[in-house]
Amino acid sequence: MQVKDLISARVSLAPMAGITDYVLRSLIRENSSSALITTEMISSEALTQVKDTLITKREKNHSPISYQLSGHKPQMIADCAKYLEEYADMIDINMGCPVNKVVRGTDGCALMRNYQLAQEIVRTVKSQINVPLSVKFRLGYTQEEQNFVDFGERMQESGADFITIHARTRSQMYGGKADWKKIAELKRAVDIPVFANGDIVSIETAEECLNQSNADGVAVGRASLGDVTLIGRIEQYLNKGIYSPPPSQEEKINMLKEHILREVELRGERVGVKFVRKFYPYYLNGFTGASKLRGEIVLIDSLKEVLSKLDKIQSLKI
Ligand SMILES: Cc1cc2nc3c(=O)[nH]c(=O)nc-3n(C[C@H](O)[C@H](O)[C@H](O)COP(=O)(O)O)c2cc1C
Repeated sequence: MQVKDLISARVSLAPMAGITDYVLRSLIRENSSSALITTEMISSEALTQVKDTLITKREKNHSPISYQLSGHKPQMIADCAKYLEEYADMIDINMGCPVNKVVRGTDGCALMRNYQLAQEIVRTVKSQINVPLSVKFRLGYTQEEQNFVDFGERMQESGADFITIHARTRSQMYGGKADWKKIAELKRAVDIPVFANGDIVSIETAEECLNQSNADGVAVGRASLGDVTLIGRIEQYLNKGIYSPPPSQEEKINMLKEHILREVELRGERVGVKFVRKFYPYYLNGFTGASKLRGEIVLIDSLKEVLSKLDKIQSLKI
């Protein structure tokens, strides 16, 4: 498939380590027939050592799907990309991760300060794979070093087929506001498609972001947590003009139950129930007593008890 077919829905699931696993990807796909979904970041160093089947697991209907790699060794990343071609419709290279552990090793956003290496990675991977290649990066490393236009041009020159840009700098991490207007500068400079990312939390913000950025689509991260319908609702709105309202709290709790059941099926009860805990703040919020209930549910290890607690919350008619 060509890039234009992979991104035709104009919305994607942004990669999130420890979050966009097989289960979340499946749930998003069940609510959106054609949005581009993305795996968690897969470390090329780790994948070279161990072929982790949970991280690569997919279903036929997951297409269009992109697999994201991180690292700084061009040939190692290319070898991993070749291995992932069996699963992936597109390979994405992480050049935006801000966390210390990653940038210290010249991976992630540190690549925005190292044009030569970033370009070598893109050139090497591109010359060895048969699926499209994309890069995801930020506005720059610091407020003073916003080199995203120059960087994007070089990525295009080196062979990237598609860009996702998170409209914050590395120094901002996840704070402050994403500056969607800046993305319009990148759009003017490159010919390859660009998806805008950062703070898209609704159909309305998706539309506003597209207006301000002139991007070809939006990538949604954190707002997919706690609402697996959001990406599908944005897809429906942008492509068919159909507006569906956000889910009610009752519906969100039903989604959470399904999410837990799927994780338990994938990982077993002990690991599955613990894994889902990070999602509770997103599914259980915005009603009186939510924080107290989250404090209680997070202590529960058994699937049966978690489900019965959620039944009780629903019976409160919040
Ligand atoms: C928990 C978490 C994990 C993330 N992991 C990745 C990752 O593996 N690769 C990546 O490129 N970005 C990662 N990101 C960044 C997101 O893809 C996205 O750029 C960022 O959250 C901004 O978009 P949002 O406001 O829609 O969440 C992560 C973000 C969060 C919150």
